[in-house]
Amino acid sequence: MLSCWIIYNGSLTSDKFKDQAELLQGAAEQAGVQVELKRNYDVLIDLANTVEYRPSFVVFLDKDILLAQYLKNAGIAVFNDPDVIETCDNKAKQYLQLAVSGVPMPETIIAPKVYPAFTIRDSGYYERVLQRLGLPMIIKEGHGSFGMKVYLIETEQQFYDKTDELRGVDYVFQKFIATSRGRDIRVNIVGGDIVAAMYRHSETDFRANITNGGVASKVELTDAQRALAIRAAEAVGAEFAGVDLLFGENEEPLVCEVNAAAHIRNIYNITGVNVADAMIAYILRRLA
Ligand SMILES: Nc1ncnc2c1ncn2[C@@H]1O[C@H](COP(=O)(O)OP(=O)(O)O)[C@@H](O)[C@H]1O
Ligand SMILES: [Mg+2]
Repeated sequence: MLSCWIIYNGSLTSDKFKDQAELLQGAAEQAGVQVELKRNYDVLIDLANTVEYRPSFVVFLDKDILLAQYLKNAGIAVFNDPDVIETCDNKAKQYLQLAVSGVPMPETIIAPKVYPAFTIRDSGYYERVLQRLGLPMIIKEGHGSFGMKVYLIETEQQFYDKTDELRGVDYVFQKFIATSRGRDIRVNIVGGDIVAAMYRHSETDFRANITNGGVASKVELTDAQRALAIRAAEAVGAEFAGVDLLFGENEEPLVCEVNAAAHIRNIYNITGVNVADAMIAYILRRLA
């Protein structure tokens, strides 16, 4: 009998993470897999010892990349691959890779490393960025979810305050896609196939994230949206991906981001598609 661990972050108090893990647990058990739900800290990353018990595979819903790598080093099949989790976990790193594949995305500039105790305010660097992207623009931290670390910068004052504040942090400057204000599309992909998609729309915020007030509905994807979502997941190597698409000029799709551990509850409620079933079926095919 196959066995698996489903790993989620144990320090987060929101029920969302446990719920996501339980959706996967249900799907795996239904497929006849013996499941153990684990918080990341339930596994001791003890470098003097390898893991005693090895499940057939691990579904890794956390961003504890070092734990994912530790399990992979022990010879366990980890989904997504730890390298993919790492790439997606840092938006700057992710955009760097998306750019290599040439997928359409908003113009993006990766902020330079600035040590927090120092400043490059008078170097002329920030003026170059302002000139290149104009205002309003988006500033987006490397690590962030649910729209919480994405900022709409409308004035030079906000721009300089934010760049000052973010010294020591990985982040990017990005063109604000005004045609997509408050709306985007989430596409869930499993093993290169589109499994479900939803349209997200907010009346109250430029961000369409549901956690941020966005409302989701069913959507029929255009061919261009389908093709781009698949290309984006492939560009970062994600077997499981939640791809966010923006609406550019003439509704041309642009990649907003690829999530390696996309939440699947909302899309289940909206579309009736349980992405977890597809994820487990994919893993079982891979391991067969
Ligand atoms: N360049 C952009 N132009 C317009 N809207 C954007 C842009 N980038 C992000 N957004 C909006 O902000 C939301 C959150 O951004 P995203 O990059 O997906 O970060 P998160 O990981 O927090 O979801 C997106 O769903 C979208 O609605
Ligand atoms: Mg997003």
